[in-house]
Amino acid sequence: MPPVQYVIRVFREPDAMRGVWMSLPKVTVVGAGQVGATTAFLLLTKGIADVVMVDVAEGLARGKALDMMHSRSVERFVPVVTGTNDYAETAESDVVVVTAGLPRKPGMTRDDLLAANGAIVRSAVSAAVEASPGAVVICVTNPLDVMTYLGWKVSGLPSHRIFGMGGVLDSARFAYAIAGETGAAIDTIEALTVGAHGDAMVPLPSHSTVSGTPLTEMLAPGRVDALVERTVYGGAEVVALLKTGSAFYAPAASVTAMVEVVLGDTGAVLPSCVYLDGEYGISDVYISVPAALGRDGVRAVVEIDLDDAELAALQESAATVAEAVADLRL
Ligand code: 2OP
Repeated sequence: MPPVQYVIRVFREPDAMRGVWMSLPKVTVVGAGQVGATTAFLLLTKGIADVVMVDVAEGLARGKALDMMHSRSVERFVPVVTGTNDYAETAESDVVVVTAGLPRKPGMTRDDLLAANGAIVRSAVSAAVEASPGAVVICVTNPLDVMTYLGWKVSGLPSHRIFGMGGVLDSARFAYAIAGETGAAIDTIEALTVGAHGDAMVPLPSHSTVSGTPLTEMLAPGRVDALVERTVYGGAEVVALLKTGSAFYAPAASVTAMVEVVLGDTGAVLPSCVYLDGEYGISDVYISVPAALGRDGVRAVVEIDLDDAELAALQESAATVAEAVADLRL
């Protein structure tokens, strides 16, 4: 029996760990900008997967990957990251995360990015899926719900294998707003936001709780409305402060959580931008609702009880997405 100290040392040695777990899953992150690179770094430091970052900009992905690997003896993470502009190196990925695209500038809505990011998502998804036809694809590029629909069309994948990250981030922002208002510890809060990842998102106070008590039973309606407003414009608040781009820490953390659930095949229910085929009275739209995720993508869309106003808000939100999708003339 080796001394404990020795065991810890061995198990903190990245390459020794690789010997124990011969092969880690492979995740491709398309786009080595702020969201993509932060996602890659989280996947590495949490030990979730080997990562390939791919970006059209010469040297960007390779430079950031090298920078991350320089931290390996400090952070002692097991996975490795490589950077490339050749999709051949992304082959046989288990998950592809699409972050490529332009971020918002102050005063822009996510929909202002439709045309430019549409072209980027088309080529990124086609190339990534050609290299990894068995992958689960998670879209992050804005306008999220429209780009996820476009990605699905371009990919030829069954709809359960491609979905988007919107609801996790919007729910996280709602949770942060609730914590600020109530003073409750963040881990006692369950917050849920559904709908489009945009101004038409639908935070659900009746399905959001602090230590199990619904928000609607804790706060006066005016206070609840203020938290909903703070959530809807949380991304814009960050854009206005940064001035040169949009949020990336919370978006990266949110998509990393989704990757973890997929690779772990846990079936955990996360608010995800999924294809609806009649659920909630909505058809042929990608929009965030609770969904059970696993190794093959979306295991099931979960239909929670919504009152008439909540359901109407979700359906209106879906109508705004459908309108933007129609503009793409797919
Ligand atoms: C956000 O909400 C970038 O859409 C992302 O911050």
